[in-house]
Amino acid sequence: MKVAVLGYGTVGVGVYEMLQAAEGLEAGPVLVRPGKVNEPFKVDSIEAITGDATVDAVAEVMGGVEPAFTYALAAIQAGKHFVTSNKALVAAKGVELNRAARENGVAFLFSAACGGGVPILHNLARAVETDEILSVGGILNGTTNYMLDQMQSIGLDYGEALRQAQQLGYAEADPTADVTGLDALRKIMLACAVAWGELPQEGLLNEGIDSFTAEDVRDLAARGFVCRLVASGKRAEDGRLAAYVEPVLVSAGDAESAVLRNYNMARYEGRCSGPIAMIGQGAGRYPTASAVLRDLSGIAAGESAMFPAGCVNGAADNSAEVHEYYVRLPKAAVHSLPVAAVLSDDGETLRFRTGEVSVKTMHETAASLRADHHAVFFAACRRSA
Ligand code: HSE
Repeated sequence: MKVAVLGYGTVGVGVYEMLQAAEGLEAGPVLVRPGKVNEPFKVDSIEAITGDATVDAVAEVMGGVEPAFTYALAAIQAGKHFVTSNKALVAAKGVELNRAARENGVAFLFSAACGGGVPILHNLARAVETDEILSVGGILNGTTNYMLDQMQSIGLDYGEALRQAQQLGYAEADPTADVTGLDALRKIMLACAVAWGELPQEGLLNEGIDSFTAEDVRDLAARGFVCRLVASGKRAEDGRLAAYVEPVLVSAGDAESAVLRNYNMARYEGRCSGPIAMIGQGAGRYPTASAVLRDLSGIAAGESAMFPAGCVNGAADNSAEVHEYYVRLPKAAVHSLPVAAVLSDDGETLRFRTGEVSVKTMHETAASLRADHHAVFFAACRRSA
């Protein structure tokens, strides 16, 4: 199977190298930006790929919704199988691409778009055929896990931790999506669609780590906690779909505390299987490229879809999800959160644990305090902070 590659950045180089070494797969042309064609295998127009009858499949690793979506549709309509690592693309346009691929009789797979090298979507797509999925989630962003780990274990400051994550090829070209939780949110959107045939587009909530400070690290360490950025997706009995990302406090006994550096811990719970978790590198050239290659060899073996037929766009509702929260905010900030215990008060900054609060209320309260220029950090508690 001859595979064309769209994009020649961190992941694209890895995919091209792996294709050259893979049995049963052949490296085809690589699409680069105009003016960047400096080697014979590179082309700068999508038509050079869609019009090439020897190309069987297209692997898109450019990132971003456009022009990736236009290229994806062109490839699918030209009868090429389509594989992508692009979370933004599948989160925004996955339903249309799933439909187009099925109508054109080609495969549409995107393992690398959630979990990096961790085969969570592949396994989830198989599990839904025989089991009912109750929840999906976990640590799904390698950049922020690396940053949190380095801030907590060796005391790096936020800026230096982010710089290193960028240098190591973990972060997006613009790391805003990583640090605000949007990248992890897109991944949980994909997992929800694989699990329940509904790709939520509205009602989603993401809180990242961009307000996490060295002082928060110290305060949490003194209480025996570390922070992880966790994505959650859940289908309630009444059909409501919860989908959100937020920092969570974990302690030494929690599996997440052992997830270090750029690793992810992706999990799902099936009614019959019970909880299943997979740990591996969630970002980086070769882990991500390995997931792209796994999809390609899966196509050669007859795999064709991750979203179910009839997958639709839908909405999330996070009002029934409830946690206690650890909150840090300026003492002067006026809020209506229930305070269960004041943890510290230095006259300027207040740290407290809330009583039970819905995810929706917590995220909306933080957004409204920030609109009033208050610096807020919050994290869900598994047990009392
Ligand atoms: N920026 C992403 C991450 C890359 O850090 O997880 C892998 O999706």
